[in-house]
Amino acid sequence: MSESLKSKTTLGLELPTDPRWVNLAEKSLQDILTDHAYCEQKAASTCISLITMYPEKEELLEEVMPVVTEEWGHFRLVIAELKKRNLTLGRQRKDEYVHELLKFQKKGGSYEDRLLEKLLTCALIEARSCERFRLLSLHISDPALREFYHGFMVSEAGHYKMFLRLAKLYAGEEKASKRWREYLEFEAGLMATFSATGDRMH
Ligand SMILES: [Fe+2]
Ligand SMILES: [Fe+2]
Repeated sequence: MSESLKSKTTLGLELPTDPRWVNLAEKSLQDILTDHAYCEQKAASTCISLITMYPEKEELLEEVMPVVTEEWGHFRLVIAELKKRNLTLGRQRKDEYVHELLKFQKKGGSYEDRLLEKLLTCALIEARSCERFRLLSLHISDPALREFYHGFMVSEAGHYKMFLRLAKLYAGEEKASKRWREYLEFEAGLMATFSATGDRMH
């Protein structure tokens, strides 16, 4: 990949989203907000699961506990935005993006190995979400929505950094970085197979 293309991406992602995706998203606001709401719900649920699966990891507990609250706050913000616009929360769709990332996780392995896979998966979802919130915050036509999405971009960037930091803490810098590069590569290939559609965040 050329340096110029790389500079367009954020957070190490290998494949930047075409900014025209924003035009599709704003045409299906109810769908994109619905999908976004469930992304926040899943983020909160995943954080709770991490805590219950790895209760002895003190740093993880300390860092992830407040993120549960934050992600649930995000869920509520999205619901409030729907309400403000006289829109309602739709049904949850199958999340192909997350489904494929979960399939990429190494199965088996030790308890510690599984933690690394989980933390890197979380970091990646946060990174891609952040990249997409950034595009929405820059290019969506409604100024109120630009502000709305900017807040999510900032917050998810912090989560991305936290998950990557925890991955390096528990698996070691070298192992975590090597596996992270594999995740980035896989994710870029995955994104390339998805057609641009405005009804989902990923
Ligand atoms: Fe969030
Ligand atoms: Fe997040």
